[in-house]
Amino acid sequence: MGDGVNPEHSFQLNAHYTQILDSLSDMVLVKGPKSRLLWANRAFLTYYGMTNEELQGIIDAPFSDPDYTQQFVRDDAKVFETGKVLNIPAEPVTRFDGQVRYFHTVKTPILDEQGQVIMTVGVSRDIHDKLAQEALIDEQRQRMITSSKFSALGEMSGAIAHEINNPLTVIHGRAGQLKELAEAGVVEPVQVLEVATKIEKTTLRISKIVKALKSFARDGEKDPFDIVLVADLVEDTVEFCRERFRSYRIDLTIEVDPNLTLECQPVPLSQVLLNLLLNSLDAVYPLSEKWVKVQITEEGEFIRFRITDSGRGIPADLHEKIMRPFFTTKEVGHGTGIGLSVSKGIVESHRGSLALDAQNPHTSFVVDLPARQPIDSPS
Ligand SMILES: Nc1ncnc2c1ncn2[C@@H]1O[C@H](COP(=O)(O)OP(=O)(O)OP(=O)(O)O)[C@@H](O)[C@H]1O
Ligand SMILES: [Mg+2]
Repeated sequence: MGDGVNPEHSFQLNAHYTQILDSLSDMVLVKGPKSRLLWANRAFLTYYGMTNEELQGIIDAPFSDPDYTQQFVRDDAKVFETGKVLNIPAEPVTRFDGQVRYFHTVKTPILDEQGQVIMTVGVSRDIHDKLAQEALIDEQRQRMITSSKFSALGEMSGAIAHEINNPLTVIHGRAGQLKELAEAGVVEPVQVLEVATKIEKTTLRISKIVKALKSFARDGEKDPFDIVLVADLVEDTVEFCRERFRSYRIDLTIEVDPNLTLECQPVPLSQVLLNLLLNSLDAVYPLSEKWVKVQITEEGEFIRFRITDSGRGIPADLHEKIMRPFFTTKEVGHGTGIGLSVSKGIVESHRGSLALDAQNPHTSFVVDLPARQPIDSPS
């Protein structure tokens, strides 16, 4: 037995207990004071490539990364000092062949009759593959957000051209008017001023569209959370599809208190609204009654966005499916089926919820978002 182990606390397990602990796939490791190893189950011995005799009294295996060993020692000391269970959601542990894998470890103190900590028991579960899978899913989600954004942009490019073309026509017409005035030799300052003001206003409208487009095309996923006026956010989003609604003669109304504010990542959130607006547009344009309503209200600590369209709801058997990635009822080349699932992801990363309101006689989606993010938010 190595030094530092109090013989009073020397460690004996009866044969049955050993068999039970050896049957576990989790690693079990018993340590005495000052992180001296006392006993390990088979899973641990296999991972370390050592025997219980070789482990006795050492602090860690020689192949272990010294930084990791230091962290283990600090964690053990904490359990000894506090007498409390320590939960370590993910810690790296070096395997006998040098590979490092991640484990979820719980270290529990073992007390003597006087309530003094005499040992710790660590139970470690291999979560390496699970973590890798989560990272992969996260990466896929990021890619989906980007691709949904570009498909929305692609779909809108025609409409955007329209949005810009219309004001250009206005400018063109007004410039012609100025020329006519000059040719006729009657240049009234009041008239010139009026025409020039109109041109100026129309130019501003174009630059607003271009500005909104630039910020939308940027990757906003890592943007900080910002407190914004909800009315502005909605207005900027609608900028992308106003003309399209107009050309389909769809009545688009927005009800929002101009003073409402929301802490959010404006670009991804604008993408959520746009996805919902475009879904409504797709749903109502073939109908005889065509309207889409966006209502924003304050509901206690939440801001509620309700997007309702003149459609008659979504068939009950589809309710569960619509939020799934790649579920679409649209023709090939028309929908990818990622709008809602990506939107749900974005809303949930804002600690909010996105749901279909199945009670509503029309098709109605509700997004609830906390007006302010909790302190430990990832922002
Ligand atoms: N407002 C709505 N009215 C009727 N059906 C809807 C509405 N919104 C969504 N859906 C249904 O939910 C499905 C999934 O929507 P989602 O936005 O995820 O994908 P998509 O619109 O089909 O394709 P994408 O958004 O990727 O272009 C749609 O295909 C449609 O069947
Ligand atoms: Mg969609």
